[in-house]
Amino acid sequence: MSLSVVILAAGQGTRMMSSRPKVIHELAGKPLLQHVVASGRELKPDQVIVVIGHGAGQVRAAMQGEAITFVEQTEQLGTGHALQQCLDSITPGNDVLVLVGDVPLIRADTLRQLVEQRGDAAVTVLSFLPTNNFGYGRIARAGNGTVRAIVEQKDTTADEASITECNSGILLIDGARVRELVMALENNNAQQEYYLTDVVALAATAGDSVNAVVCEDADEVNGINNQQQLAVVETIYRQRCANALMVQGVKLFDPARIDVRGDITVGRDVQIDINCVFEGDVTLGDNVRIGANCVIRNSSIGAGSNILPMTSMDDAIIGRNVSIGPFARIRPGTDCADDVKIGNFVETKKSHIGQGSKISHLSYIGDTEMGSAVNIGAGTIVCNYDGVNKFKTIIEDGVFIGSDTQLVAPVRVARNATIGAGSTITSDAPADSLTLSRARQVTIDGWSRPLKKTEET
Ligand code: UD1
Ligand code: CA
Repeated sequence: MSLSVVILAAGQGTRMMSSRPKVIHELAGKPLLQHVVASGRELKPDQVIVVIGHGAGQVRAAMQGEAITFVEQTEQLGTGHALQQCLDSITPGNDVLVLVGDVPLIRADTLRQLVEQRGDAAVTVLSFLPTNNFGYGRIARAGNGTVRAIVEQKDTTADEASITECNSGILLIDGARVRELVMALENNNAQQEYYLTDVVALAATAGDSVNAVVCEDADEVNGINNQQQLAVVETIYRQRCANALMVQGVKLFDPARIDVRGDITVGRDVQIDINCVFEGDVTLGDNVRIGANCVIRNSSIGAGSNILPMTSMDDAIIGRNVSIGPFARIRPGTDCADDVKIGNFVETKKSHIGQGSKISHLSYIGDTEMGSAVNIGAGTIVCNYDGVNKFKTIIEDGVFIGSDTQLVAPVRVARNATIGAGSTITSDAPADSLTLSRARQVTIDGWSRPLKKTEET
């Protein structure tokens, strides 16, 4: 049976105290809604529909590039009303899986179970057992145990209020029944809202079977209403990522102090010290070690490489047995071959660093093509920018650059050249020679420092 996923996300989320709609607040660097969409997509639905209302423009912008059908609900008259707005967009006959935009930890496996365990039910609800049931819709069962209704908090009798099994907000409606059930919803209840949850009583009354599948891990259906709850969910998410890494054999110095905001692929015997942040797509090869307080984004690091503390890396490709940091800034377009060493206070950008080359201290290397076995002295700066345009520097194999040198691009330092310390190199330096540019050192005999002028009266 084909599936349509509908995600309810029209509410404002007043308690976030924010000018942005709740569903685009970020968890692990991605909008809440994007987490929900990602889980829903794993079921391979033929469409994903998102109901938007408050801050609709902002939600659309935050979800740009995703294949989503947006349906606008201009007035928020309830979750049932929200689904009514979608009926003309849902492929006729498709089963409808309703998800909630502010419940981001839901896992695809749980949704799959919901679909698999539906049996012949017209409605299958994902229920859970919260530690505190206040505020949730209660799963009311008839004497024989079958689900008869979902009763919202404000409509409960004292008996119903004590029911511990609650509605997660996620449910599956049979494709053959969805239109009729959703169109039949009314708003004669305590909140005068069209409750989507009333499809349960409607189906049960019509003699259809209704199923409730309990979500074992209540964390998955944690909803977010305010910043505290978002922080709780962020912590759970962090633990999930840390556990997944440890299952793969990664040694985490403290699983509570790592943030994975994207996808990380790891080899064997990887070690990660505390307070590291990984963003986007990151790959760490076998035996890679990451020191404390590193931020690594969209980069791949080859086997045996050692990233020392306080290193920031973005969009870089790092070879094997490379040592970087501490305090290095590896910017986009850095491509390091094997056995490279980049030391403290070195910044690199859009540069290839050839095998075994060393930039050990206090340097800027940008727009540079560097060969292998090069040694860059401390404080060497590539002047790649004239204020308007950027130019390339080429440093060939075996070059030795003396400390405190400026290489004014465009410039080429040819094979095995040596540049004397303190030089400003403005034209190409030939191979196998010493090039230097600096004033000859002189000593002025009998020179004395100027004296402070005294005011004469
Ligand atoms: C809902 C359920 C309740 C369940 C709880 C779980 C109903 C009537 N109740 O209650 O049984 O225990 O979730 O958290 O469904 N939304 C719209 N349009 C609207 C109203 C809501 O898109 O007109 C969206 C909201 O943005 C939100 C979701 O639907 O993402 C749920 O709405 P909310 O008002 O939070 O429902 P609850 O009262 O929490
Ligand atoms: Ca809610």
